[in-house]
Amino acid sequence: MIRKKIKEILQSGQTGSQVLVKGWVRTRRSSKNVNFIALNDGSTIHNLQVVADSETFDEEFIKDINTSASLAVTGELVESKGSGQNVELIAKTIEIYGKADPEKYPIQPKKHSLEFLRENAHLRFRTNTFGAVFRIRHAMAFAIHDYFNRKGFFYLHTPIITASDAEGAGQMFRVTTLDAKNPPLTEDGSIDYSEDFFGRPTNLTVSGQLEGELGATALGEIYTFGPTFRAENSNTSRHLAEFWMIEPEMAFYDLKDNMDLAEDFLKSLIIYALENCQDDLKFLAARLKEEEKGKPADQQSMDLIEKLRFVAENDFVRLTYTEAIEILKNSNPYKKKKFQYPVEWGVDLQSEHERYLVEKHFKKPVILINYPKEIKAFYMKQNDDGKTVAAMDVLFPQIGEIIGGSQREEDYGKLVARMEEMHIPAEEMWWFLDTRRYGTVPHSGFGLGFERFILFLTGMGNIRDVIAFPRTPKNAEF
Ligand code: 4AD
Ligand code: MG
Repeated sequence: MIRKKIKEILQSGQTGSQVLVKGWVRTRRSSKNVNFIALNDGSTIHNLQVVADSETFDEEFIKDINTSASLAVTGELVESKGSGQNVELIAKTIEIYGKADPEKYPIQPKKHSLEFLRENAHLRFRTNTFGAVFRIRHAMAFAIHDYFNRKGFFYLHTPIITASDAEGAGQMFRVTTLDAKNPPLTEDGSIDYSEDFFGRPTNLTVSGQLEGELGATALGEIYTFGPTFRAENSNTSRHLAEFWMIEPEMAFYDLKDNMDLAEDFLKSLIIYALENCQDDLKFLAARLKEEEKGKPADQQSMDLIEKLRFVAENDFVRLTYTEAIEILKNSNPYKKKKFQYPVEWGVDLQSEHERYLVEKHFKKPVILINYPKEIKAFYMKQNDDGKTVAAMDVLFPQIGEIIGGSQREEDYGKLVARMEEMHIPAEEMWWFLDTRRYGTVPHSGFGLGFERFILFLTGMGNIRDVIAFPRTPKNAEF
């Protein structure tokens, strides 16, 4: 008999056919004559109800069918008499692949805290919440490739090990094969990296952008989608040390084209999720409601699906950094000294400021442009005012910054001058500067933090719960 996935069985709803299903037990209820087994195979959030009567399967056999035991079941699909499902499987044969000791199995069939599940991240996929999150995460990865493919962008695999610090923030993980206890030293006593594997200091990349620019200035439009690494000691619900970033880079795009693409991209992904991940989104929406039950009405978030529709259907607000500072200075939390961080022209906006603009002031996603050059990376296009650069950050409710990007400085002289001001060694970046030396063009790009986007989509509260195995300070178990 050919095995069928539970998703397919429930969708087709065909009764009368003989099927083979394989999966893990979520729960078992037993009465005198009959046992009900909720079986899940990961293909969908829904379980298949397996009915095993006590005549065919004796008590001794049934007692091993506990939560998380793995089974192969054959039988006939019939219309279900019980509520909650249309079809159920009347079991003819059951094979137990692996038992799961109910005394020891950590994930009991009850509500566990997300913190507890994080400590059991190796098993949390077996819960409804994490099943839903990771099916959605998969669907979004697919939708991203599909989106760019349809638009004629090429997927470029930029390196993970690199000798350059793209963002100039210096928060990188060193990659080395030198003996930590006894490294080779130069005459002045510093570590001699010429002896290292690559003959120079290398790190895990913080961004694929610089190599992406090389691709875009020949292929036209490219995107990267890969892991990126930041060694910043941030223990927040929105920071990971290892996260996935999508970085499109486009020749002949100015800042406006860049904003238009970012907005269309985000909206298209949300629409894809609404159309293709309904069951999982419905489950997560209900989970969020349950979670916020006790909260006062003004602290409860919008229904998850309503929120996604709202963002997909409304224009994002676009304004300059300078305008945003004005709004913040006139805001109630500023006047009442409720912001933890200072607000004045020149400071980097903190998540509390970003969220005020999005959640309280505009009640819509916001694209902020033209930031002070001092707080942005060296490669951004310098505006004529001499003070700002053509940066753009997309700010989302609950998240704050979800996208960071800019038009790039295409003028060789201006770029080199800025690098000098920022003490970035131009001679090491000769390969990057060649794009400006030979046939330079206006171009732009941005980076979407994949996990921040999944956080937004799923309504989860902590970024550690939307990546399979989170890497954060002092945490690399599993
Ligand atoms: O704003 P960032 O640092 O921009 C860049 O790296 C550019 N090179 C992108 C480009 O223009 N091609 O990072 C981009 C996005 C942020 O907006 C955020 O969503 C995410 O990456 N991000 C993080 N996500 C999780 N954990 C972290 N530590 C993150 N740092 C940035
Ligand atoms: Mg940024």
